[in-house]
Amino acid sequence: AAPVRYEAESATISQGVVESNHAGFSGTGFVNFDNVAGSSVEFSVTASKAGEAKLTFRYANGTTDNRPVDVNVNGGLAVDERAFAGTGAWTTWTSVTNTVQLNAGVNTIRLTATGATGGPNLDYVEL
Ligand code: GCU
Ligand code: CA
Repeated sequence: AAPVRYEAESATISQGVVESNHAGFSGTGFVNFDNVAGSSVEFSVTASKAGEAKLTFRYANGTTDNRPVDVNVNGGLAVDERAFAGTGAWTTWTSVTNTVQLNAGVNTIRLTATGATGGPNLDYVEL
C-alpha cells in the first residue's frame, strides 16, 4: 500500500513548538523540539496488520552535532537513541528509517530527545 504520512505539526508535542520558518517542509510546518532532554513528539498511527513496519522520519538538523532521540512504540523502547545527524542547514531535510513492531490498529510512536540540545526539527513520520 502507499505510505501514509503523519505530519509532526499535527502530533502531540511536549516541550516543542510548531514552526514554519525553514523552507522545504511538508504540510504546514515542522516541530522545533525545545533544546532540552525530554522534549518529545507523539504520533498516533494506524497499522493494517501486526508485525514489522518501516518508519520513515523526515527531519533537518542545521548543526554539526547528532541530536539523538529515543523511539518508543506503544510505551516500549523500540529504538535506543536513534541518531539524527547534521544535515548541513535547517532548510536541508532528509529521511532516516527504522523497522519496528506494530500492533494491528492504532499505535503510539513517541520520539523523545535524549541530549541537552533536544531533537532535530521534525517534519513527519511515514509508514
Ligand atoms: C535554530 C533554528 C531552530 C532549531 C534550533 C535548534 O534556532 O532556527 O529551527 O530548532 O536552532 O538548535 O534546535
Ligand atoms: Ca530546537
